[in-house]
Amino acid sequence: MIELKNLTKVYGKGAKSATALSRVNLSVNKGEIFGVIGHSGAGKSTLIRCINLLERPTDGEVWVDGVELTALRQGPLQQRRRKIGMIYQHFNLLSSATVYDNIAFPLRLSGMPRKEIDAKVKELLTLVGLEEHRSKYPAQLSGGQKQRVGIARALASDPDVLLCDEATSALDPQTTDSILRLLLDINRKFHLTIVLITHEMHVIQSICDRVAVIHGGGIVEQGKVAEVFLKPKHEVTKEFIRTETQNEGPLQAALEAVDRKPGKAVKITFLGQKTYESTLSATVRATGVDFAILQGTISTIKDVPYGQLIVRFEGNEEAVAATLAKLAGQGLDVEVIG
Ligand SMILES: Nc1ncnc2c1ncn2[C@@H]1O[C@H](COP(=O)(O)OP(=O)(O)OP(=O)(O)O)[C@@H](O)[C@H]1O
Ligand SMILES: [Mg+2]
Repeated sequence: MIELKNLTKVYGKGAKSATALSRVNLSVNKGEIFGVIGHSGAGKSTLIRCINLLERPTDGEVWVDGVELTALRQGPLQQRRRKIGMIYQHFNLLSSATVYDNIAFPLRLSGMPRKEIDAKVKELLTLVGLEEHRSKYPAQLSGGQKQRVGIARALASDPDVLLCDEATSALDPQTTDSILRLLLDINRKFHLTIVLITHEMHVIQSICDRVAVIHGGGIVEQGKVAEVFLKPKHEVTKEFIRTETQNEGPLQAALEAVDRKPGKAVKITFLGQKTYESTLSATVRATGVDFAILQGTISTIKDVPYGQLIVRFEGNEEAVAATLAKLAGQGLDVEVIG
């Protein structure tokens, strides 16, 4: 659906120039929610703004739905852009217009007859749950409600793609979750392709199918969220996950406490239905090994459950090795950590 080929963006010229993106290649499938995560200054906004050419890349190609946007003239580009909606961190609403008029704005611009506009705006107000607030001005709304207006306005022209630039970064955790649920809802209902950028792993974990990690203007890692989240490779990715799970301190204490005893500390990862099965207890019963739990979590990645358990197996070396082999043989991910 979206292809970025060798995308490079350099701001400014000569000695004062700054490279914000360097040869980025990315492809987003139709109907998926694709997340891009990175620290401040990594190039996230530049990347997302290059997709609808709000920002002109210095080099490389942008393809959306089989059309190379970077090769289009202004007229056809405007046409194509209508099919790409966008929402922003600070909402970008017209402060002197009501909720209704904010949503109607792009439709009036496109010359839609008044009656059709009215029907469309009403439908969108219902979709985002703002029917009762249609006559209010942005200043009378909460952050979450403002973002709902932003979403309704972005959907007014029936886009195929929705770009979200830190759409929940100005919201509290609860409101963030309600907006994320709304985005997921829209994605499923309309088969809308969503690209979102964020600096929060939580956002990625909640609704994204795939994720790319951007650092210093380049993609350093990408893949399915479960794979990247449970088996991060790059240091930047590991750091994002650490901040999300925040379990390093207690784990370190647990590992130090058992340091001098014989045994093996192992991280076991369960994914999907395996999370709820009794594989571990059945395995140790068969191999005759005992274990102590040092840390454990059960959570979900989008709708998929996963569990991560750090245990220390006690027993003779062969029995422990047999246990690890048996666990791995049953589809669990097993990593010896000490
Ligand atoms: N208009 C501009 N002119 C010059 N440099 C810019 C411009 N916009 C961004 N940059 C630079 O490009 C780099 C990437 O910026 P970008 O805004 O894409 O980062 P970001 O990942 O969105 O950061 P944040 O999380 O803070 O929003 C930064 O070094 C930034 O200073
Ligand atoms: Mg930004």
